[in-house]
Amino acid sequence: MSHQQEPEGPSGGVLIVDFGAQYCQLIARRVRELGVYSRITVPERALFTFQHMRPTAVILSGGPRSVYEHDAPALDPAILRQGVPVLGICYGLQWMSQNTGGEVTPAKEGAEYGRTELRVDDAADLLAGCRQDGIVWMSHGDKVAKLGPGFEVLARSEPCPFAVVADRQRRFFGLQFHPEVAHTEDGAVMLRNFVLGVAKCRTDWNPGNLIDVKVEAVRKLVGDTGEVVMGLSGGVDSSVAAVLIHRAIGKRLHCVFVDNGLLRAGEREGVEELFRDHYRMDLTVVDASDRFLGELQGVSDPEAKRKIVGKVFVDVFREQAKRSVHAKFLGQGTLYPDVIESVAAHGGATSTIKSHHNVGGLPKDLDMTLVEPLRDLFKDEVRALGRELGLPSSLVDRQPFPGPGLAVRCLGEVTTAKLAPLRGADRIVREEVEKNGLHKGLWQYFAVYVPQKSVGVKGDARVYEDVCMLRLVSSQDAMTADWELLPAPVLKRISNRILNEVKGFSRVCLDISSKPPATIEWE
Ligand code: XMP
Repeated sequence: MSHQQEPEGPSGGVLIVDFGAQYCQLIARRVRELGVYSRITVPERALFTFQHMRPTAVILSGGPRSVYEHDAPALDPAILRQGVPVLGICYGLQWMSQNTGGEVTPAKEGAEYGRTELRVDDAADLLAGCRQDGIVWMSHGDKVAKLGPGFEVLARSEPCPFAVVADRQRRFFGLQFHPEVAHTEDGAVMLRNFVLGVAKCRTDWNPGNLIDVKVEAVRKLVGDTGEVVMGLSGGVDSSVAAVLIHRAIGKRLHCVFVDNGLLRAGEREGVEELFRDHYRMDLTVVDASDRFLGELQGVSDPEAKRKIVGKVFVDVFREQAKRSVHAKFLGQGTLYPDVIESVAAHGGATSTIKSHHNVGGLPKDLDMTLVEPLRDLFKDEVRALGRELGLPSSLVDRQPFPGPGLAVRCLGEVTTAKLAPLRGADRIVREEVEKNGLHKGLWQYFAVYVPQKSVGVKGDARVYEDVCMLRLVSSQDAMTADWELLPAPVLKRISNRILNEVKGFSRVCLDISSKPPATIEWE
C-alpha cells in the first residue's frame, strides 16, 4: 500500500494497458460497471502485471502517438501469446496490427476526428446487438492499411475500411474508434460483448463486498501494535478510509481534523458527532482558524491563497503527527485516479492529466508508511463501500468541497467579515436545495461572495452592499459542467432568505456559465 507498488487486487478481470489515452480511466470504469475487476498498467509493466494478475482479458487503450515513431510507447509482444482475448482500441488496434503482420500508415485523407457512421457487416460476437448504422466517435491520425493474416473486417466507416476487425481464432478484436465515450452509440454494448461475451469474465466485482478484504489488508500491514495517524477532512474519501482503518485497528488509529476557519456552517460539529460520538474514534480537533486567517491576511491572489492554505495545513498536520510519536503509519484516502495520475506524472504514458490539487498531500519527510485502503477504487466505488460500512448518505453522497474551502469562494482578501455572510448564504442554499430533493441532479450547489458593492433599500434606508452569487452546476466528473436552473419558487425562497437572514448582501445573482470556458469555482 505505498506509492511505489502497483495496487493489490484480485486475480482475473481485465488488464488495461494505458498507451496514454485521455479515456483510459473511463475504460476501466466501464468494465467495473459490468461487475468485472479491471486494472490499468503502463506499457513497460504490462507483462509483469499480466503475470501477477492473470487477467481473463486484455484491453489495449488508445494513445496520442504513432506506432511508427521510434520511441512510441510499446509493450512486450509476448502479451499477444498468453492465450487471452485482446481488444485493441485506436492506437491499441494499430499496435496489435503492427505486431500481427499488418501495416499502419498515416491516414492519407488526414486525421479523422469526431462523429462517423459505422457500417456493420458482421454482427456476431463483438458487434452483437449493435445497430447497423450507428454513430461512433473517432479520434486518430494513423490507420491500419493492411490486416495481418487471420484478421477479417466486421465493420467499416466511410474513410476507414478497417473500423472493426477480428481474428476470431485467437480472439483478437480491434476498434478504430472509442467505445468508452458516451458519443459512441452502442459503445457500451461492444465493451460488454467483449468482456462478458467473448472473454467470459467473472462478474464478481462488487466494491461493497470488499470490507473484509480491506480490513484484513490493513491489519496485515499495520501489525498487532502499529499505530496510524491520519487527517480527516470530512469528505468522502478520508471518511471511508478512516472507518475502514478503524475497523481494522480500533483505537490505534488517531485522527486529526484541522479547523482552518474556512469550513462551511456545521462542518466541524458534524465530523465530531460522527467520528467521535458515533464511531468512538480517537479524534483530535485542532482549531487553527486564527493561524490560517492570519496567514491569508492581505492576500487576494487566488493561487497565493491556495498555496497558503495548503502550506499551513501541512505545517499544522505535521505538528500533530509528531505528537503521535508511536505512529509509524500515515492513513490517506488516496483513490485509484490519484494513483494513475501520479504514475503518469512519474513517466507513465498518460501525458495529458493535470496533477491533482489536494491539500491532503502530505510531506514526504514525515517518513511514515502509507496506509491507503482505497487506492484501487474509483469514487463511485468508494461511495458504495461507504454505504456498506453504514456511513450516512449525507456524507457518502455529499457534494465535493475544495481543499482550500471557502477561501476560493470569498473573492479577493479573505476576512471574517466576508466569511460570516458567505457561510450563512451557503447554508441556506444547501438547506433549500436538499429540502426540495434537488441535490440529486446537481454536482455542486453553493454561494460565492463577490465583493462588488451595489445599492439596495433595506427598511427605509439605502444600503451599499456586496453580491451573493449562486453557483448551481451539473457534471459527471468536474472536467466539464453545465449551469442549472432550479424551479422559480425555490430560487425565490433562496434569494429572499439570503437577503433577509444574512447581513452583508444587497443582491443575489445566478451564475449561468458553463465549464469550459468558466470553471466551477470562482477562484
Ligand atoms: P474547477 O473550479 O477547476 O473545479 O472547475 C473542479 C472541481 O475541483 C474542485 N476544486 C478543488 N478541489 N482542491 C480541491 O480539493 C482545490 O484546490 C480545488 N479547486 C477546485 C471544485 O470544487 C470542483 O468540484
